[in-house]
Amino acid sequence: LSSQGTFLGLNKKQWSLTTLTFQNSALILIMHYSRVMPPSGDHRYFTSTAVFLNEIIKLAVSLTLAIYETSKTLAPTTPATVLFEQIYNSVFAGDGWKLALIAAFYTLQNLLQYVAVGNLDAVHFQILYQLKILITAIFSVTLLRRHLGPKRWFSLVILTIGVCIVSMPQSESPSGSSPLLRDMTDHFFPRSLHELGHAPVDFASGVKLSKRSATYQGIDHDLPPPDPLMDYSVGLTSVLVAAAVSGLTGVYFEKLLKESPTQASVWIRNVQLSFYSLFAALLGGVIWQDGSGISEHGFFEGYNWVVWTAVILQAAGGLIASVVIRDADNIVKNFATSISIVVSFLVSVFVFDFEVTFTFILGTSFVLLSTYIYSSSERSIHRPPPIQIAK
Ligand code: C5P
Repeated sequence: LSSQGTFLGLNKKQWSLTTLTFQNSALILIMHYSRVMPPSGDHRYFTSTAVFLNEIIKLAVSLTLAIYETSKTLAPTTPATVLFEQIYNSVFAGDGWKLALIAAFYTLQNLLQYVAVGNLDAVHFQILYQLKILITAIFSVTLLRRHLGPKRWFSLVILTIGVCIVSMPQSESPSGSSPLLRDMTDHFFPRSLHELGHAPVDFASGVKLSKRSATYQGIDHDLPPPDPLMDYSVGLTSVLVAAAVSGLTGVYFEKLLKESPTQASVWIRNVQLSFYSLFAALLGGVIWQDGSGISEHGFFEGYNWVVWTAVILQAAGGLIASVVIRDADNIVKNFATSISIVVSFLVSVFVFDFEVTFTFILGTSFVLLSTYIYSSSERSIHRPPPIQIAK
């Protein structure tokens, strides 16, 4: 750690953005796999239970950090009751109730994210989800009165074009989804894992299985039909609604964090948020969405290490996202996650023998180009003025 507070050349903000990029990649890949892998019991896990557990983890971590933060401002001899009183007041007094609305929207977004990622392959999900950048920008301008220069608007247009190109269906197919989509899913998560049960997958079998998916493009004919569980239109609708909700909610959270007269730290805000989200996830998810299934099969039905990893990664993502919103802003956060598309892409090329199409490359290039243009305008804003040399 250097004297300027940098570590390995990156400052705090750059570290949180980098961590978010890798967390996002890992989350989408694991989350998708957790939805398409064969269930460990009779039934796949209920997504509402995962969203609920995610909130419990976030509440525990945020509360610990809020207590630590508050204890630092008090004298070492202060009784614990005073410490808890301070936490209680900051969480429940003032405008804490506003977090209830944000909590309801984030819970809806988290539930939709599971539906989307279970019906789309990981790469398409990520690209389509990038539309949230445009929605975030619109809300940042209207709700936060941010000014975005022409270069930034231009990069947002490029981004939208890129997202549209990648989302274009390739051709009609029996299941309603494009062969490209099925093919890409096979490459990311070889469908034949289903045929293999839980047999370990090595590089050789991964390559062999993904080659078999070429059948869908009419080259071979001895493959099982595509996964009937995946429905492209359900996935598309869910991801678009999730993107819209993400844009609005993220900006509203930022407004509360930065503009509210009640000066509350990000950890206090997160405690408030998780507190209300627990109720939203319990009522809207565990009881309303999956109540009958959970009472029949049990809360932890279908849980295994993959599901737990998805839950922990989602909780970590929420906490890192809040720090990024505090230190940078929502638009920068969203561009950081668009870089994770490249990470997912590289993982798929090397591990799953991923074959890419021209439209995919073209659309992804637009998304990455827009990220570059947007961040270059950020760099030019923060660049120090040129040094005037006295004549
Ligand atoms: O996709 P997006 O970046 O909007 O996702 C943000 C995620 O971070 C959501 O899952 C939301 O629940 C989570 N979050 C959080 N705490 C915050 C802000 C966001 O858990 N303070």
